[in-house]
Amino acid sequence: MTGSVALVGMPGSGKSTVGRQLARLLGWQLLDSDAEIERELGHSIRSHFEQYGEESFRALEEAMIARLAARPGVVLATGGGAVLREANRVALRAHGNTVVYLRAGVEDLVRRLRHDTQRPLLQDVDPAIRLRQLFTQRDPLYRAVADHVVDTGRSSVSAIAHLLAMQLELGDLGGNAAASAIHKPGSSDDPADSA
Ligand code: S3P
Repeated sequence: MTGSVALVGMPGSGKSTVGRQLARLLGWQLLDSDAEIERELGHSIRSHFEQYGEESFRALEEAMIARLAARPGVVLATGGGAVLREANRVALRAHGNTVVYLRAGVEDLVRRLRHDTQRPLLQDVDPAIRLRQLFTQRDPLYRAVADHVVDTGRSSVSAIAHLLAMQLELGDLGGNAAASAIHKPGSSDDPADSA
């Protein structure tokens, strides 16, 4: 593998936590696009949304992803909405990168995020309703951009990170029968087929 690994998925799917462990296992740097945006802004994404709105954030996010996706040998954790812009989907797949979709079911996401106070899109509505809407809109986009889909439901963060690291090092992500949590999009054992 020549490029980096980009993790995409819904808020609460574990991109940052899996990314941190995966980066440690590979000896690579973890870059988190939301954290980098907040560092440059000097304030939170939530307050940026409140002051300037979502489109302003999306423009910052696009510029940041273009920069970070071009870095070799990093694990890049993206924001949940990064796949909304085609430019981001193209950038994430460029540079020989491997894109992994960490897929979690809506029930799990609701359980993890029902008390969240940081994610602007979950503040003014019932998180269960909003998460279902976002999932319906985005699941096809995550699948479209991803080289590999990881069903996170039954596995711990550590197990997912170890599996990904092993597969990346083998250069055979998804092709190993032992990797039961990893599915190539469209394969017959794709968890979405039975969801
Ligand atoms: C967003 C998800 C957030 C962050 C921003 C917008 C989204 O990242 O980028 O609040 O549109 O779903 P996480 O996926 O890390 O929560």
